[in-house]
Amino acid sequence: MRQTIIAGNWKMNRDLNESVALASEIVKGINVLKNRIVVLCPPFTSLAAVSQILKGKSGVFSGAQNAYFEESGAFTGEISTKMIKSVGADFVILGHSERRKYFDESDDFINKKVKKVISAGLRAILCVGETLEERENHREEMVVKRQIQGGLAGISQDEMKSVVVAYEPVWAIGTGKTATPEITQKMHEFIRRRILEIFGAETAESTSVLYGGSIKPGNVKGLMECPDIDGGLVGGASLKSEDFLKIIYFDR
Ligand code: PGA
Repeated sequence: MRQTIIAGNWKMNRDLNESVALASEIVKGINVLKNRIVVLCPPFTSLAAVSQILKGKSGVFSGAQNAYFEESGAFTGEISTKMIKSVGADFVILGHSERRKYFDESDDFINKKVKKVISAGLRAILCVGETLEERENHREEMVVKRQIQGGLAGISQDEMKSVVVAYEPVWAIGTGKTATPEITQKMHEFIRRRILEIFGAETAESTSVLYGGSIKPGNVKGLMECPDIDGGLVGGASLKSEDFLKIIYFDR
C-alpha cells in the first residue's frame, strides 16, 4: 500500500506569528489520520516554530521548501540539511517549478540536493512538471522523463524509499486551472513507468506520486480517486486551514 501524503507548500507566505496561528488551526482540525500523513512546509523562518507545534501529533510532519547540498561553510543565504533536521523537520521540497524558473535550478543541481537530503535522513519531495508551452508542443512526457532521470540520477533502490515525486504541471500552479483527473492519471502512470524502468517494479509500486496545481476542496476527490495519484502538494489552498482540512479529509 502506498502512503497517501497531503502536503502544504506555503511558499513565501506567513510570517512567524501567522505561521504559528495557521499551523495551530490545522493541528486542531486534525483528529484521526487513517492511511495518510500530512506535511506542512512553511518558510524557513517559521520551520522551527511549526515543527514544535507538530511535535507529538501523530501523522503530521513539517518540511522545508529547499535545502543546499553542501554540509556547511561560506554559502551565504543557504540552509543545510543538518539545520533543517535540527529543528525537527522530516521533509524537503526540491526542484519546485518556481525554483527552476526564477532561480535557474537545473536537474543536475536538484539531483545533488536530492542526494544530500536523503543521506541526511530526510525525505525528498521531488517536483517535476511541464510548462504550458511544452504541453502545447506535445513535449510534456519528454520533459518529465528528463526531470525524473536527472533528478533521481545515481539514487539507489534503497534510497528511493526516502523519495516522494510530485507532478506539478506549471500551467496549473496558482492559475486556478487544475489538470483533469484524466490528464493527471495519464502522467502519473507515465512517471510510475519511468520509475519502474530505473528502479524496478517494487520501487515503482511503493513510491508515492503526488499531484500539485490548484488543488481545492472541490476538485481534490476526483484527483485522489485516480489509481496512480497518491496525494497532493497544495499551494494556495494550504494557507486556509478550513480548505486545507477539507483537502486532508477529501474522502469524508
Ligand atoms: P497551487 O500551488 O496549489 O497554489 O497551485 C501548488 C504548488 O506550487 O505546489
